[in-house]
Amino acid sequence: MGIMSFPLLIMILIAFPLSSSGGKWTYDGPVGEHHWSRNYPYCGGAFQSPINFQPELLRFDPDLQPIQLQDYNLSSKEQLTLSNNGHSVQLSLPSRMHLSGLPHRYSAAQLHFHWGSSNTPTGSEHTINGKQFAAEMHLVHFNSAKYPNISVAVDKSDGLAVLGIFIEVGEFNPAFDQFLKYVNGIKYKGQKVQVAGFNIRELLPARLDEYYRYDGSLTTPPCYPSVLWTVFRNPVSMSLRQYLALATSLFSSQAQESAPMPLFGNYRKTQLMDNRVVLVSFQQDASMNINLSFKLWFEP
Ligand SMILES: *[C@@H]1O[C@H](CO)[C@@H](O)[C@H](O)[C@H]1NC(C)=O
Ligand SMILES: *[C@@H]1O[C@H](CO)[C@@H](O)[C@H](O)[C@H]1NC(C)=O
Ligand SMILES: [Zn+2]
Repeated sequence: MGIMSFPLLIMILIAFPLSSSGGKWTYDGPVGEHHWSRNYPYCGGAFQSPINFQPELLRFDPDLQPIQLQDYNLSSKEQLTLSNNGHSVQLSLPSRMHLSGLPHRYSAAQLHFHWGSSNTPTGSEHTINGKQFAAEMHLVHFNSAKYPNISVAVDKSDGLAVLGIFIEVGEFNPAFDQFLKYVNGIKYKGQKVQVAGFNIRELLPARLDEYYRYDGSLTTPPCYPSVLWTVFRNPVSMSLRQYLALATSLFSSQAQESAPMPLFGNYRKTQLMDNRVVLVSFQQDASMNINLSFKLWFEP
């Protein structure tokens, strides 16, 4: 202790947590998304997510098969961990749950959410032709055919497959209440509660055959470009009360911190396309109908 000068010790204490964890980050302010690439270089790199699904960038691909969910119906005897990680609310998922119909087998790890504020319910990460939904759910899977766990897979180019589900405010959704009713028990960063298993399929839209598919990244630091994205075309709904439970119950700060930081607006802005195209599994029937009515009018 005597050898080290006091300012040097302070410098080490300040610098070490930054270098060991990569650094604190938020969505706004001095460590907000525009500054992520300082500590996390991939965030300033190529193939980033989310993106806007612009009509000009979409290519219909008739070979895209419906997503197949395997072992998604969990028993109520199974305990899942619901936690506040300071950036989102996250539900752990057993790796027995997996996806098929993709180039590899992808096993589930967790699901989490991105959402807006209480008075601005626009917090989805992906957007459809500029339209932002109230919230977005991500079901994160890792390539279990090639990698032993998500920690090893997370930075590999074929490491992850994430399902994105748009959420709009509307009808009450009993499936979300299976865990939203416990958010008051995880108000602060680091808190966890155990939740009984349920049929995770009920959180997804009815149609699993209509989706956007592209190569992208984690939408949070370290932003590794390791994600095969599948974003479903059709949103699911939750009631305004359920949305407000997400948007107003949680803090990004720990319980003992004197200045509580409300957790909302935890979505990243849409990123550049970098010459990517988005494959779509469905034909844009809205524009087809317009073309058809044009034909009927002008080619009698
Ligand atoms: C899910 O599993 C439960 C038993 O754990 C069963 O009662 C229920 O019918 C299953 N649901 C579906 C949609 O298969
Ligand atoms: C993931 O697998 C690697 C290699 O087998 C192992 O070293 C590591 O401890 C595992 N991590 C977790 C979180 O299980
Ligand atoms: Zn996410």
